[in-house]
Amino acid sequence: MPMQRMCQIVERGQLNPYAVTMTLAVGEELSRQISFGQFVHIRCGEGLLLRRPISICDWQEGLLRIVFEVRGEGTAWLAERKEGESLDVLGPLGRGFRLDRQGRYLLVGGGIGVPPLLSCAVGTAGRSTAVLGFRSADRAMLLGDFAARCAAVRVASDDGTIGVHGFVDGVAREVLEADRDFDAVLACGPKPMLKSVARVAKEFGVPCQVSMEERMGCGVGACLVCSCDMADGSRKHVCKDGPVFDAKEVDWDA
Ligand SMILES: Cc1cc2nc3c(=O)[nH]c(=O)nc-3n(C[C@H](O)[C@H](O)[C@H](O)COP(=O)(O)OP(=O)(O)OC[C@H]3O[C@@H](n4cnc5c(N)ncnc54)[C@H](O)[C@@H]3O)c2cc1C
Ligand code: FES
Repeated sequence: MPMQRMCQIVERGQLNPYAVTMTLAVGEELSRQISFGQFVHIRCGEGLLLRRPISICDWQEGLLRIVFEVRGEGTAWLAERKEGESLDVLGPLGRGFRLDRQGRYLLVGGGIGVPPLLSCAVGTAGRSTAVLGFRSADRAMLLGDFAARCAAVRVASDDGTIGVHGFVDGVAREVLEADRDFDAVLACGPKPMLKSVARVAKEFGVPCQVSMEERMGCGVGACLVCSCDMADGSRKHVCKDGPVFDAKEVDWDA
């Protein structure tokens, strides 16, 4: 059951010039309910500004970590908050990754889609492999955190300034060519990236779950802002039915 509460920022930092990390004291009751790939809806701003969805990067007893980049007014307001201040948090929300802690996963993240996969790496302690993609070296983040929790980490960048010059789907293909013994590919990032990763996973016969991003209003299934087209012609709510879907469910050409 999602909870709404005021949560103190106990730690705030910068992972690179663009990405902010915050640890929030959410209380044990809330943190106990979290599962991999869920998100929180945070009130951003004092006025009529709506809440903004931010994925849960990691959590432990009573604490929850988020990582975000500034996109517009809401995230700019959030980035200005300081340690000791409190945020109005609603969560945990959504259906996340279906993950077996004993499993072995190929985690594929692009840009700000990288942070939500960290909890999956933590949850599968040393068994999963991560493929992380960034626009350029100055946007890379959490590489040490993934390295400490994964069997292997591969990095790619659009401009070649860090890791392999290219996209994550190409690197995911290389990993699967060498070893396709993964329980699933878990992917988070922009839709074109997810589409390419889903295609590669299908080619190698590995199940694939994708975390979709849509603009959100209420965050709890009460409006239609976040609807997403499904392969069977239906529309689902990213906030309530997702954000994580089986890649086979999604209409990739919508
Ligand atoms: C389930 C979910 C989890 C998310 N997790 C994270 C996270 O962990 N870290 C993070 O940095 N961001 C995350 N986002 C994206 C984040 O919610 C948006 O960047 C934020 O809502 C933008 O609000 P704003 O007021 O700053 O910008 P706005 O002024 O509302 O928008 C600025 C620009 O971003 C576009 N935009 C806004 N929201 C979205 C969206 N959801 N999808 C695509 N384009 C959008 C707008 O069209 C506009 O061009 C997540 C989104 C979803 C749906
Ligand atoms: S954001 Fe309102 S239904 Fe999903």
